[in-house]
Amino acid sequence: VKRVRTHHLQQWKADGHRWGMLTAYDQYMAGAFDAAGIPVLLVGDSAANNVYGYESSLPVTVDELLPLVRAVTRSAHRALVVADLPFGSYQRSPEQAYDTAVRFMKEGRAHAVKLEGGAEMAPQIELLTKGGVPVMAHIGFTPQSEHALGGYRVQGRGETADRLMQDAIAVQEAGAFGVVMEMVPGPIAADITQKLRIPTIGIGAGPECDAQVLVWQDMLGLRTGRAPRFVKRYADLHTIVDGAAKEFAADVAAGTFPGPEHTFDS
Ligand code: KIV
Ligand code: NA
Repeated sequence: VKRVRTHHLQQWKADGHRWGMLTAYDQYMAGAFDAAGIPVLLVGDSAANNVYGYESSLPVTVDELLPLVRAVTRSAHRALVVADLPFGSYQRSPEQAYDTAVRFMKEGRAHAVKLEGGAEMAPQIELLTKGGVPVMAHIGFTPQSEHALGGYRVQGRGETADRLMQDAIAVQEAGAFGVVMEMVPGPIAADITQKLRIPTIGIGAGPECDAQVLVWQDMLGLRTGRAPRFVKRYADLHTIVDGAAKEFAADVAAGTFPGPEHTFDS
C-alpha cells in the first residue's frame, strides 16, 4: 500500500476531493481506520481525556503520548500519522518545539506533528518545516488555551473573523501543510478554506472545509454524556460494551461460561 503523503492532501484540495481524519491511540483502532481507508490519523493530545482519564488535555505529557504514537505508526500502513504536541512542549520557543517534534519523529516514528496557535506560532512552524518536520496547524478554538480563551467558545465571530483569517494565512506562509479549524462559524471557515492553498480540516467548522476530523470515541459513541454540537455518532459502542460486559458477568455467575467448547480435555 502506498503511504499517504502531504502532497496528496494538497492534490485532493485542488481536485475538490474531501477526506476524513480520525484520532487513533492504539493498535486496533489505527489498524481498522487505516484498513477502512482513512488517510490521516491523528494521535491527539485528546488522549488526555480519551485514554488517560484526565479532565482536560492540559495534563498529558510527551512521555505519555510517545508510546501511543509508536503504537499507531506500527499499525497504520497507509495513513499519514500526525502526532499532537502537548501543552507546554513547544510554546516556549521554536527550539523547544523542534526538540519535541524530533522526539515524536525519532521515537514515535510520526510522519508529521500538529501544534495549536496562529500567527504567534509562525516562528515554531518555520523552524520545524525548515528542519524536515511537516506541521499541521490548529486555529480557532484551541483546547490547550481553554483557560486563556475563557472556556469552550466559538472563535472568529464578528470582529474577530479578520484575525482568524490572518492566523490562517500566517500558518500557511510559515509552511504548515494543513490547518485544523475548531469551532469556527461555517461561513468564516468557508472563506478561509477558499483563500488558502493548504487544506483546512474542520471540527465544528461547517461543511465547506477540505476535510473533517472527529475524536473516535465521540464518532463511535464510546464516550457517554452530552457531546458537543459538532459531533456525529456513527455507532453506539458504549451500549455494545455495556451489554457484553453484563452478559459475560451473568454467564459466569450462572456457570454457563465457559462451556465445553471453551474447555480443554484431559
Ligand atoms: O487532540 C485532538 O483530538 C485534536 C482534534 C480534535 C483536532 O486536536
Ligand atoms: Na489536540
